[in-house]
Amino acid sequence: MTQTPDRPSMDCLPSVQGEDLQQSAAADKAELFDYREAANPIRSGLTEPIPYCSWGPELHASGPSGIIPLDLSAELGASGPATSPGLAAHFIRIEAGEGVRAAASATSSLFFVLSGRGICHCRETDQDTNIQWSEGDLFVLPSGGTPLLEASSTSVLYWVHDAPLLNYLGVVPSQPRFESTHYRGEWLRSELRKLAQKPGSANSNRISLLLANRDLPSTRTVTHVLWAMYGIVPSAATQPPHRHQSVALDLIIDCQPGVYTLVGTELNADGTIRNPKRINWQAGGAFITPPGYWHSHVNESGHPAYLLPIQDAGLQTYLRSLDIRFA
Ligand SMILES: [Fe+2]
Repeated sequence: MTQTPDRPSMDCLPSVQGEDLQQSAAADKAELFDYREAANPIRSGLTEPIPYCSWGPELHASGPSGIIPLDLSAELGASGPATSPGLAAHFIRIEAGEGVRAAASATSSLFFVLSGRGICHCRETDQDTNIQWSEGDLFVLPSGGTPLLEASSTSVLYWVHDAPLLNYLGVVPSQPRFESTHYRGEWLRSELRKLAQKPGSANSNRISLLLANRDLPSTRTVTHVLWAMYGIVPSAATQPPHRHQSVALDLIIDCQPGVYTLVGTELNADGTIRNPKRINWQAGGAFITPPGYWHSHVNESGHPAYLLPIQDAGLQTYLRSLDIRFA
């Protein structure tokens, strides 16, 4: 049986004039563009393109305990600290015996320990997490708590989270989507060594481990939003270019001078990058690889080099928009 709502009395109905005013207010923001003026708004003055940028290790080499944001929000036109439209990267320096709170309204927080030792305390919705970290460890935390990072020896961490994405959407996280997960440095180093020694690895496009979570089998990523790769660029390697629609916030874990990444938007007929920009690596430094740009790592240093790119490729994979391509 159809239910009919109670009709309000005539006194409660807005006057015809009031309805007109309301409709006119609702139409105030409506706007139309010729398709040619708005089909690609990624340009200067509108949706700003993602710039090339790199940051050196001097940012975290000394100074008091604190968070150092790698902030491009002014360049990106973002309303809060952001390194890419969806992600924010930071260095965190913590003096021995001190603590730093890493607060963010984010669904995913990833920490990589560049140096030092300590413990991360985080009270999440229904449990306490305590992660004892040392150099080379990586750990991820879901939404729901404000981690306190306490250093037992002076420490530097790289921290990436997705608060800029949530800020753009105008939302706050409502539930954790995975459990806190710890990838010990000793395990990562040993597994990467084994991978590098496998037959065929020398000819592979990348010699790298992708960090994944048993709770996220479909994306094979470190969180449902973030993607993390622990990789080696062997001495004398020139990796063939590839590209993807996820942005990369690359951390250089270790290298000697003479390692660099070539980045560009087009390929030559021989598969090399046309008019590439060269980004020199620095141990403990970071740089951006913009989405959709071809990139290739080259090692002329005579020593192996190690990197940790963090991307929004968990989200891009879920959206089926990752579009990874190899030259
Ligand atoms: Fe890449």
